[in-house]
Amino acid sequence: MKLIAGNWKMFKGPEETRAFCGAFEPPEGVEAVLCPPFVSLPAAVESGHTIFAQNVHWADDGAFTGEVSAPMLAELGVAGAIVGHSERRQYFGDTDETVARRTVAALAHGLRVIACVGESLEERESGQMELVLRVQVEAVKDAVGEHDGLVIAYEPVWAIGTGQTATPQQAREAHAFVKSLLDVPVLYGGSVKPENAEELLSQEGVDGALVGGAALDVESFTALCRIAADL
Ligand code: PGA
Repeated sequence: MKLIAGNWKMFKGPEETRAFCGAFEPPEGVEAVLCPPFVSLPAAVESGHTIFAQNVHWADDGAFTGEVSAPMLAELGVAGAIVGHSERRQYFGDTDETVARRTVAALAHGLRVIACVGESLEERESGQMELVLRVQVEAVKDAVGEHDGLVIAYEPVWAIGTGQTATPQQAREAHAFVKSLLDVPVLYGGSVKPENAEELLSQEGVDGALVGGAALDVESFTALCRIAADL
């Protein structure tokens, strides 16, 4: 079964979250996950859909202003968390080390994890894609191994929010490479939308999608889930 996760980023407060969740009816045959901002998690959990946070801290509690811990998310009924999204790495200082620590803490508290990896355009063009992916994936692997609760999202940074997707062949090759390092489900992320989802999701080694922009609209997210369910 494919996993389709909607990463809402910094969109949708509790009211919009309730409206989306009330209208969202995922089809059978796909696992649909919604990832709202922290303040909207209670409203989302109440809807009964499977909900992940967009980040999680590595400590259980402590003097870490602005952070939220794994036991806090678990208490709320949140099922998992995204860690190491490229926006966290780019704007908020996440490193391979902090991504690994967040992953360890989340799994230890029974949360599932979508750990994000991906190369920049510069890294791809200078032939460093495999090196970058290896370093990012091995940081997580060395920390937790092939844990049942772990999923990797391959998100080429140049494809996120740009409307530019990896070609099916690029996705297939990157997924095969990631799986050769760590044998867990691998989602593709980067400008996935209903128009390109079937081609990407039908590639070998593509176990689902992490979706940003196209996950904000309930009709397009439902359409994505339907495409994945029908494959
Ligand atoms: P996008 O975002 O679908 O808007 O490109 C994907 C992501 O950042 O996870």
